[in-house]
Amino acid sequence: MKDLEIRTASRFDTEKVQRLCRLLYSEDYAVDAWPQWMEHKEAVNLVALCDGELIACWHAEPLTQTDAWSQGTRVHPAFQGKGIGSLMLDRLELELRGRHFRVIRGSIAPDNIASLTMVRSKKWSVHSSVCRRLCEPHQIRASAVGPADWKRISHIAEKFPFLGSRQHHAHFARSYFTLTDNPLRRLVGNEAVFVSEDNRACAVLDDAYRSETGDWWVVGISGDYQPKLSLIKGLLSATYKSGINLLFDSPCQDQVQHALTELGFEPVLPNGRYVIVERWL
Ligand SMILES: CC(C)(COP(=O)(O)OP(=O)(O)OC[C@H]1O[C@@H](n2cnc3c(N)ncnc32)[C@H](O)[C@@H]1OP(=O)(O)O)[C@@H](O)C(=O)NCCC(=O)NCCS
Repeated sequence: MKDLEIRTASRFDTEKVQRLCRLLYSEDYAVDAWPQWMEHKEAVNLVALCDGELIACWHAEPLTQTDAWSQGTRVHPAFQGKGIGSLMLDRLELELRGRHFRVIRGSIAPDNIASLTMVRSKKWSVHSSVCRRLCEPHQIRASAVGPADWKRISHIAEKFPFLGSRQHHAHFARSYFTLTDNPLRRLVGNEAVFVSEDNRACAVLDDAYRSETGDWWVVGISGDYQPKLSLIKGLLSATYKSGINLLFDSPCQDQVQHALTELGFEPVLPNGRYVIVERWL
């Protein structure tokens, strides 16, 4: 392709980026997010131009010292399938490697074949698939569960490490990072980690969401299948007693999804499912 330029975005590109986003999706969250991303001192904001016309954009930002989050990838429809996304991804990886990040992650809708194919062809892998489901309070028989202390959960998190996540201005409203001891200990301190009665499964609640709304949002779960199921039942019983909702970013496995349906969880539509992808640098 002649005269293709990939460079760091400037504030003079913002309107063109927003036009591109609107062209792809009438209600693209990236339209509002892009000016904020441009204010982010440590962000990588890339644009591609062909013969001077802005045809693509991409954003990434650090979540921790080692982990970056990628989102807002848009290629003009007339230029899709011509290798532009792949070239931008090469550039993004180069920038982030140069800044000593160890991993980049992002989330993709399972039906976005173009995006999944692109990242796979660049040696990204699928970390996990998530189905966001909601259960309104209802009575259930379950053994009691409660907030865990570090001793009760550290061995579970070590055996079944899971990603940490936080609310984020993103398509699926969360971003994911490697959960090291310190943030996990902080969550334990905030009584946001619950453990099954037999100490074989633990679940992490979004403590900020709990303070804001009163509802519980399980954003990570770890352990063997049966203990995890009894933990979820215990959480349902606790939310029933408090009259609050239980939101669950659950693993997409059929067995889990079937069990959650039986328990009364409904998928949260329209953005119920997503795939977390990652690239170790
Ligand atoms: C996803 C997107 C960024 C890909 O960019 P692109 O420039 O079209 O991708 P490329 O031309 O570099 O193609 C990369 C790979 O994906 C494949 N691919 C691209 N479009 C495809 C499609 N519609 N169906 C199947 N495969 C596709 C290419 O064949 C190529 O695979 P290969 O390397 O094995 O040959 C672009 O399609 C887009 O902007 N889509 C709309 C917005 C969007 O979905 N953003 C991502 C949100 S997570």
